[in-house]
Amino acid sequence: MQKIVIAIDGYSACGKSTTAKEVAKELGYRYIDSGAMYRAVTLYFLDHLVTPSNPREVMKALFAINLEFRVNAKGISELFMNGVNVEKPIRKMRVSENVSQVSTVKEVREAMVALQRKLGKEKGIVMDGRDIGTVVFPDAELKAFLTADIDVRAYRRQQELLEKDEMVDIDEIIQNLKQRDQIDSTRKESPLKKAADAQTIDTTHITVEEQVDEVIRMALSKIVRATTRPK
Ligand code: DC
Repeated sequence: MQKIVIAIDGYSACGKSTTAKEVAKELGYRYIDSGAMYRAVTLYFLDHLVTPSNPREVMKALFAINLEFRVNAKGISELFMNGVNVEKPIRKMRVSENVSQVSTVKEVREAMVALQRKLGKEKGIVMDGRDIGTVVFPDAELKAFLTADIDVRAYRRQQELLEKDEMVDIDEIIQNLKQRDQIDSTRKESPLKKAADAQTIDTTHITVEEQVDEVIRMALSKIVRATTRPK
């Protein structure tokens, strides 16, 4: 079977990562969490006091950052920055509160997009983010755009944080999500928007299983089409 590229975009906490991970597992594809990459850069900026508005500091930091996804013993893809597993610290609120701002920086986006394209060169990949179907892989065979009501998204994010022993007030989460939606969709460099050929999935009233099934169904139809298409 021909391998395809699956791009899953949408607002924060709509279930993109959960869906993308499961779809990748079912299809035997690689899963790449592009948001994790922006989060790791943000973590580095915070820890090294890099000023996002200072291009020299930003470039110096980007040269010092090496990002790599490694698959653990459970088959889960984890992000390592300069050899250190950063999966836990990049999900903390201090990173969430700053990541949208760091993601607006042109140099950061250029570096991340170049790396993402490199990772997707072989196809057989599911990547989730904000600009995957519009900028990173405009020719992706399947583009899904996930949405959900803000209250449902906040509740899901709160549960995720609780699982990591971080108790955050629901209003604080709603505030953070709204602020990130606003920054993500209005920034100058590759703003979050639905690609013209993306298929929208509203996840407010459906389960994770239903979400995954829907994307798998779409993917299989695209894989068959890509495989049977005359060369
Ligand atoms: O998916 P996430 O919530 O972990 O993403 C964190 C932030 O990273 C999000 O607020 C915007 C940014 N991001 C981006 O600008 N482009 C992407 N492709 C993925 C994430």
